[in-house]
Amino acid sequence: MNTFLSLCMVSAIASVLLPSGAMAATPDGEAIFNRSCSVCHSVNPPPKSAPPVIPLANRYHMQFQTKEQGVAAMADFLEKPDAAKALDTRAVSRFGLMPLIPLPDEERKAVSEWFWDQYNPAMGGGRGFGGGQRRLMNQ
Ligand code: HEC
Repeated sequence: MNTFLSLCMVSAIASVLLPSGAMAATPDGEAIFNRSCSVCHSVNPPPKSAPPVIPLANRYHMQFQTKEQGVAAMADFLEKPDAAKALDTRAVSRFGLMPLIPLPDEERKAVSEWFWDQYNPAMGGGRGFGGGQRRLMNQ
């Protein structure tokens, strides 16, 4: 009976731990970037066919006070790219509007968090930053 009980407990614990462990794994933002974004976005300048990540992240940091707000705005842009939502309007005219990259909600959030974390204040916000976008600097 004791053996039976402990076997039951082991399998109960395993069935609770294993699936929830797998589900709790947050998607890896960097892996998503490498898979779905890096074909167009480089991390550092020079650009491929889209603005590089670090200057973009810097823009998001200048525009939004908190990571939560910045990530929400970026995820919203990714859900439905729209020139009216883009922070970098010059990039829209230079590269064209980003096409929709279909991703599950949690991947959109994870990759936006990764993007946000690439912030590097030692680098600027990209070409033309502070010119047409001066309102960003005055906040
Ligand atoms: C087919 C090329 C392409 C792919 C793939 C791509 N992008 Fe873009 N992305 C662009 C271009 C072009 C722009 C600049 C024009 C614009 O803002 O729409 C851009 C702009 C952006 C911006 C800035 C929007 C703003 O506020 O100005 C973010 C953030 C972004 N991309 C994130 C991503 C993420 C995250 C992925 C992967 C899930 C991704 N992109 C995949 C082409 C691409």
